[in-house]
Amino acid sequence: MAEAEPKISFQQIDVDLDVQEILLAASQHDLAKLRRLVRTQSSLPDAANVKDPETGYSPLHSAIAACEPETEEQAKGDASKIDAETLKSGVETVKLLLQEGAIWNDLDNNNETPGCLARRIGALELYDLIVDAGVRAEMLLNRLDGYEELSDDEDDIKESGEKAEGAEAETETEAPELVDVTAEQAATIIANANAEAETVANPDVTNVKYLDSNLNIQKDRILDSDQNGVMMQWESDIMKKSAVALLPRPGLKVLNIGHGMGIVDGFFQEQSPAEHHIIEAHADVAAEMKKRGWDKKPGVVIHEGRWQDILPGLVGEGVTFDAIYYDTFAESYADFREFFSEQVIGLLEQEGKWGFFNGMGADRQISYDVYQKVAEMDLFEAGFDVEWEDIPVPKLEGEWEGVRRAYWVVENYRLPLCRFME
Ligand SMILES: C[S@@+](CC[C@H](N)C(=O)[O-])C[C@H]1O[C@@H](n2cnc3c(N)ncnc32)[C@H](O)[C@@H]1O
Repeated sequence: MAEAEPKISFQQIDVDLDVQEILLAASQHDLAKLRRLVRTQSSLPDAANVKDPETGYSPLHSAIAACEPETEEQAKGDASKIDAETLKSGVETVKLLLQEGAIWNDLDNNNETPGCLARRIGALELYDLIVDAGVRAEMLLNRLDGYEELSDDEDDIKESGEKAEGAEAETETEAPELVDVTAEQAATIIANANAEAETVANPDVTNVKYLDSNLNIQKDRILDSDQNGVMMQWESDIMKKSAVALLPRPGLKVLNIGHGMGIVDGFFQEQSPAEHHIIEAHADVAAEMKKRGWDKKPGVVIHEGRWQDILPGLVGEGVTFDAIYYDTFAESYADFREFFSEQVIGLLEQEGKWGFFNGMGADRQISYDVYQKVAEMDLFEAGFDVEWEDIPVPKLEGEWEGVRRAYWVVENYRLPLCRFME
């Protein structure tokens, strides 16, 4: 018996045609038509984010791909080969789509975001537009996260009028400065960001779950019980450069948060610190530290527990440091921001320096670039200057065997060195 033909409704055909029309207008950089289709004439609810079923292209992908030089020789990521007029209309089209709520990091079927595509074809002006859109979206989300936390905590706020006032003032005065979007665009950004596949941290791993799990501590790596890489030997060069930048001479006081394999602590020891405090929250790591004699090394004081619980005590005792390093695991950006905006100020000497393992978004260049800017803006807001040093990372192909997710893909590590602003 012959198979029945699949039925396609007229409504479905309309939708498919609308999608193709939007993608075509985007690729032709036809602003007037695109604006009309996206705003009014389309039967689609989220017209700025339609997808081509074959390529997975969104309108942003289409607009950027249309800038790619035609010949193979030209198409080697050389921006000078992109026709100036095409690039100009590409810029206008990308701006329009972003204003209409296009998702900055939607993936196509080639696992590329629009920004990845722009970078690959050498359209750096377009790349920068997407990075800025990513920064706006992430800043807004981070602010709203904080806002939600506050409203969840209504009881605490009522108990402490001072805290509530401060918090409200922060939300009211600072968000508009940082995020220049309309309420409608903000709503789209939030809805989109929640639906996006890409995140800076791995959402499956939370700090509480991690601290509760058994670790697999090997000679060259630590894995958690789901095979996520907690720390790996290949990071040694980064750790060495961080330690030397933070602690350039003997006799200083250093605080390290997150012992892991003890790599950075080993380099701190080589700088003969007068005091060397280490905070470590995982029981398996703390046990391993003692097995390896860390509790008997010169100047070492081990604090077992989460930094969230240990640091207020140190601040209360008036302990201060010339250098602080932060490299934990399975913590969110909000945790990190809380660390530097609320704790470092009470712990760092006026002339001191602090740094952190800069791995946010490192599985994709555009996410890495976005999060560098987000962190820079938040650091600035918290009163810190940051200098970045590029360190090339060797090819890591063989490193990921047995590890659940390659958490490092970008070519250069950007080492941050932070100080109080003058
Ligand atoms: C990436 S490793 C640190 C690697 C270290 N920089 C090195 O050179 O080996 C992260 C460490 O932070 C610890 N950690 C995770 N969350 C923490 C928290 N909230 N407070 C203190 N330590 C934490 C983990 O148990 C782990 O040992």
